[in-house]
Amino acid sequence: MSLFRAVPLGCGHYLPDRVMENAEFAGRLDTSDEWICARTGIRRRHIAAEGEMTSDLAIAAAKRALAHAGMKGTEVDAVIVATATPDQTFPSTATRVQHAIGMKTGFAFDIQAVCAGFIFGLANADALIRAAQARTVMVIGAETFSRILDWEDRSTCVLFGDGAGAVLVGAQSTSGTADDRGVLATCLHSDGAHNEILYVDGGPSSTGAAGKLRMQGREVFKHAVAKLADVSHEVLAKAGVVADDIDWVVPHQANIRIIEATAKKAGVPMEKVILTLQDHGNTSAASIPLALSTAVGDGRIRPGDLLLMEAIGGGLVWGAALLRW
Ligand code: ACO
Repeated sequence: MSLFRAVPLGCGHYLPDRVMENAEFAGRLDTSDEWICARTGIRRRHIAAEGEMTSDLAIAAAKRALAHAGMKGTEVDAVIVATATPDQTFPSTATRVQHAIGMKTGFAFDIQAVCAGFIFGLANADALIRAAQARTVMVIGAETFSRILDWEDRSTCVLFGDGAGAVLVGAQSTSGTADDRGVLATCLHSDGAHNEILYVDGGPSSTGAAGKLRMQGREVFKHAVAKLADVSHEVLAKAGVVADDIDWVVPHQANIRIIEATAKKAGVPMEKVILTLQDHGNTSAASIPLALSTAVGDGRIRPGDLLLMEAIGGGLVWGAALLRW
């Protein structure tokens, strides 16, 4: 059976210039490079400059994805920006990207699924393409989490960084099998019963201020390993493939111990896992497209490779996608 599928056309990423090493925290908080590396796998992260906004990061990543695809902004029908750190409460960050890349038509909107935002964005792009609402969709994860961190809280501020990644997908007629390129399957979940273990203590209709990130790390950790393993199995079954078929896992880059435990439960060796968290920290919605674009850029991920992507974030929200690059 022939069907339209969202097939990758190009990708790109952008990281702010400033690199913050773990040692910088040790100078002013009761922490150390050793603790951060051992407990998280993170060594450094990028921090946006004063005045540099989430849209600036998103626009730079989108332009690189267009260049990689050899396409112009006028050829894009829709922009989806996954972010929990928009420039403003409204308008959406996506409309800024739309304007900046020269799109005169089509539509743009933001998605708020925190660290799982890219998976939700990709699933929406795939649905828009299958429903013939759009033929070419730019999916971006972009964050400036440095703006919502409590820089005095050692249990959270060492974990996050800023960045953006973009993937351009386009409609292509496929035979509908798992051998064809494109998004093979996506699985999305949320459970609002767990709001209180990971949240930001502000917002336009509560405090009127952006607020700071609060987290019960150990609780999030437990949910992350269990839910990411489950959703990985779910998406494989949905697409009719098995763990051995996977060429690369591109996981949400939150914590090396979560990634290792999830890969083990999913039955995929660590040699097949793309890791960038050592250099980027947890960039929330940006982390998967950042890792993906890095690995495409250095030649690890090649056309035809089967990718498993999985992520979880505040809500809780979680999901997985299988994409043949
Ligand atoms: N430096 C030194 N000590 C620290 C630091 C730090 N930066 N942070 C916490 N500690 C201390 C704690 O205060 C605690 O001290 P205590 O025993 O005296 O009370 C001790 O280390 C152990 O704390 P735990 O929270 O139990 O440490 P844990 O091994 O669970 O590691 C961590 C903490 C890294 C946050 C871990 O729980 C984690 O990664 N959880 C997942 C959270 C996550 O990744 N969230 C990101 C958003 S959601 C997502 O992306 C999945």
